Amino acid sequence: MHPLLNTAVKAARRAGTLIVRYVDQIDRIDIQEKGRNDFVSEVDHAAEDAIVSVIRHAYPGHAILAEESGSTPGDDYEWVVDPLDGTTNFLHGFPQFSVSIAIRKATQIEHAVVFDPLRNELFTASRGGGAHLDDRRIRVSRVMHMKDALIGTGFPFKALSHLDEWISMFRDILLRSSGVRRAGSAALDLAYVACGRFDGFWELGLSPWDMAAGCLLIQESGGLVSDPDGRQDFLATGNIVAGNAHVHPELLRLIRTAVDH
Ligand code: IPD
Ligand code: CA
Ligand code: CA
Repeated sequence: MHPLLNTAVKAARRAGTLIVRYVDQIDRIDIQEKGRNDFVSEVDHAAEDAIVSVIRHAYPGHAILAEESGSTPGDDYEWVVDPLDGTTNFLHGFPQFSVSIAIRKATQIEHAVVFDPLRNELFTASRGGGAHLDDRRIRVSRVMHMKDALIGTGFPFKALSHLDEWISMFRDILLRSSGVRRAGSAALDLAYVACGRFDGFWELGLSPWDMAAGCLLIQESGGLVSDPDGRQDFLATGNIVAGNAHVHPELLRLIRTAVDH
């Protein structure tokens, strides 16, 4: 394993252990509302502190972009960190959340970790080295047609600006796919596309730390990731469409026609 990925795994596991320790004490956790439907707890902060201290210890000069503490400039490597992806789930005891860490050099994501601390599932990828779930190499699904595809999504529950277009996309995709799921952790949703549990995924209005690790997992497992226009701007726009090579183009077509009518 590349030393950078090794450090990312160590940081993600440390954060995961900390998060799990709080699971049966949710009533006692200190929670703040950052914005509409956007909560942050002492657990998000503690998990982020744990991750940042592992990074700082190993690579003191690297830049960090972390959800709760923002951007810290540094040299050519940047760590993109979501210490707890799925905070709403976590705060309700709904067992679906993750830790997401990506390492970016210039505009390229080089290494990625998404860790599900409850199932102890560790998704990793390094550019050019494939993607893994624990020790096993993963591939996207082989589903060929939308009618057989299970599609993941996220509701636009924070920024309502995307609500109407998302609803028309949802309608068209629900009618043509085998099913749509909203699990509540975008990083884990993308990891599920990478290992074939989902055949496709789309969401609008995400942040870079929700997507950075998951998109490399998908690319390294043979899948496709783009924004709804088919371009590679998703980390900047926050709008992402992903899937295996058969489902991704069908999903893009449905999303575009939904927006047009
Ligand atoms: C959220 C989760 C959720 C997605 C939201 C994200 P957070 O991240 O990824 O699935 O729908 O848009 O903001 O706030 O729990 O880290
Ligand atoms: Ca997130
Ligand atoms: Ca988060």
